[in-house]
Amino acid sequence: MDVKVFNSGLEASQRLAERVAAAVRGRPSLVLGLPTGRSPLETYAELSRMSSVGSVDFREVTTFNLDEFVGIPASDPRSFRQFMERHFFSRANIDAARIGFLNGTAADLDAECVRYESAIERAGGVGLQLLGIGSNGHIGFNEPGDELASRTHRIVLLESTRRANAPLFGGNANDVPREALSMGVGTILNADAIALIATGLSKARCVERAVRGPVTTKLPASFLQLHRRVELYLDRAAASLL
Ligand code: GLP
Repeated sequence: MDVKVFNSGLEASQRLAERVAAAVRGRPSLVLGLPTGRSPLETYAELSRMSSVGSVDFREVTTFNLDEFVGIPASDPRSFRQFMERHFFSRANIDAARIGFLNGTAADLDAECVRYESAIERAGGVGLQLLGIGSNGHIGFNEPGDELASRTHRIVLLESTRRANAPLFGGNANDVPREALSMGVGTILNADAIALIATGLSKARCVERAVRGPVTTKLPASFLQLHRRVELYLDRAAASLL
């Protein structure tokens, strides 16, 4: 893993944005895998700024987000789809027709997961996958446990994850859906390159385990050790146990 440590979260975010922009300039039809959460917000802000001044052009880029809540329609302000609209899609020149997203209200959720895998494959696979990390070591919504699903699947969220996502639901963890759809760890590892951003002390322990610990389903991010092109964008706090 290529561990990059920056003085601040803002600097890590800006450097990651530069990394993404350079990849898009090098390959205008790049397929980007995208996360939600607080961690990528400043990266999305910087990429939106770059798009608005014309220093990067997203018109031919295709995107696939990692995950979505079950039972929350794409139009709902609490959905990850709307989160992405607010923070990135509506602010950068991304073609709406090239946005890939899981539909958490599909009548057949298993078929929806199969559709998503096929859509990613038809697009040629993810070229650059951006990731955050949950403080329990999850990536996407691949929660720690005795086993991990390889491909896009339906998953029951842990209490800790529902608490972490409560801000989207008015602060009440009980209102966070119990289930989600998520790319699997295998889907994520299929990307040509992966760039994970983590900032703050609350991520130090899971970052340390992801980088140094054994590869284990108890810490899904540890599977990133099996990929040849993984970059970590960390601030000093998140890197403090390395
Ligand atoms: C959610 C998302 C993850 C994200 C994680 C961390 O659970 N499904 O993709 O990485 O939260 O969120 P944050 O960046 O807000 O710490």
